[in-house]
Amino acid sequence: MSSRKTYYVTTPIYYVNDVPHIGHAYTTLACDVLARFMRLDGRDVHFLTGTDEHGQKIEKAAAAAGLAPQAFADKVSVSFRELIGAMNYSPDNFIRTTEPRHYRACQALWEKLEEAGDIYLGKYAGWYSVRDETYFVEGETEVGPDSKRRALSTGAEVEWVEEPSYFFRLSAWAERLLAFYEANPRFIAPESRRNEVLSFVRGGLQDLSVSRTSFSWGVPVPGDPKHVMYVWLDALTNYITECGYPDTSDALWKFWPADLHMVGKDIIRFHCVFWPAFLMAAGVAPPQRVFAHGWWTNEGQKISKSLGNVIDPVELVATYGLDPVRYFLLREVPFGNDGDFQRRAMIGRLNGDLANAYGNLCQRVLSIVARNCGGQVPGKGPLIDADTALLERARALLAIVRTELEEQAFHRALAALWDVVGEANRYVDAQAPWALAKTDPARRDTVLWVLAETIRRVTLLVQPFMPGSAARILDQLAVPEAQRAFSAFDAELLPGTALPAPQGVFPRYAEPAKAAS
Ligand code: MSP
Repeated sequence: MSSRKTYYVTTPIYYVNDVPHIGHAYTTLACDVLARFMRLDGRDVHFLTGTDEHGQKIEKAAAAAGLAPQAFADKVSVSFRELIGAMNYSPDNFIRTTEPRHYRACQALWEKLEEAGDIYLGKYAGWYSVRDETYFVEGETEVGPDSKRRALSTGAEVEWVEEPSYFFRLSAWAERLLAFYEANPRFIAPESRRNEVLSFVRGGLQDLSVSRTSFSWGVPVPGDPKHVMYVWLDALTNYITECGYPDTSDALWKFWPADLHMVGKDIIRFHCVFWPAFLMAAGVAPPQRVFAHGWWTNEGQKISKSLGNVIDPVELVATYGLDPVRYFLLREVPFGNDGDFQRRAMIGRLNGDLANAYGNLCQRVLSIVARNCGGQVPGKGPLIDADTALLERARALLAIVRTELEEQAFHRALAALWDVVGEANRYVDAQAPWALAKTDPARRDTVLWVLAETIRRVTLLVQPFMPGSAARILDQLAVPEAQRAFSAFDAELLPGTALPAPQGVFPRYAEPAKAAS
């Protein structure tokens, strides 16, 4: 059995009513970078993503597509699976809520909640938004000029529902939740979201309807199959289904409680209020942290199907390249804030940060080495202050990136890496290795070694963000596979090691020429 420290990170499971867009790609990307970083940092990682396939919304979407819900879910789920390859994600598993193991976990959790006295039978009469799969009290809705009633927070239409329903005694959990937040200050991030959740819970909680009877596409309630479980109770349970629940002797149970549930800001209440309450009621430890990221708009506009401005991640990758897209999404916007997708900004980052700064650094250093040092890692002579200053800055990066990623501050981690890229470019100009060729070839070799070594360190840390490009750069530095984990961060490049011919890794983006009319 492994004694390495575990790290369990999850994405929300995606509704299969629609194909993936940039919002979904973003959430999974953030988790992918964390999973890759933690693996390279020696952690025993489990990274889970998947699809949320039950509920009225999916049932309706299936009917509209003329398919049975299961056939419909099977079809759309594939498009989320395909995104894994297109975005180079590295999940350890892909869960679907229609799997038998998930039914078992949901029903076992339900029985625990019932045994604990936290579930009772009643009747729900109130507003429901199928799009959000959420209950709303009247005060959270308003009637618009078109005389349709909508939820104030999401703008989704609500409908009146009156049906027998089981309830979870959420009202009894407010104090215990507040005590839990107090004892676990890292549980909700960023801080603004924490405040939002605290004030919601302090305002008092109502019991939550956890079953529906007006449709049947869901997990049947044990002992009362006229009811299917509320889709959010079902969906949240996926995180423990994966670890074997209710079988705590399962090999994956060691990953629970999860280190991180990554979610968008719209689904924080489900993850930070309902989920820990369900788990505590069932005697299961809540997750350690929930991070809520912001939402993307497209050139200033809310992304929506009706506006026709949905950003397809596959198209984005086809236009700008995979790694530039991965870089841009995590660099452009402070993680946690909302962000606006602008083509100009995307091209600016690609040509500026990637082609000019990082790509050019690698390209010019490696091509001088190829031309002047016999295609080998150059020799390292005595170091002067400028050399050690740059090497020290590169050496300090591992601790910096580790700290930033513990906080999910991807943008700050990347900014720290690119600071050193900038520093290295200034060092090249100042040391002018090309001018040393005639006067002091030994010094020229040392300068080139310092640069190659700096590129190696930066690139080791770029791996989780841009795995393909980083691998190509590490190949050009002849860093063996076995030395790409952070345990080898301090293993320096060995002078005399043969290097392959250098090749550019980040081409500039040029606007495609307009077709002649
Ligand atoms: N099925 C639920 C989650 C259940 S988890 C137990 C769900 N699915 S979803 O497909 O609607 O959304 C998944 C994620 O995509 C959410 O985290 C949401 O915030 C994110 N995004 C959807 N649109 C987005 C943007 N425009 N921008 C960024 N993220 C967005 O909710």
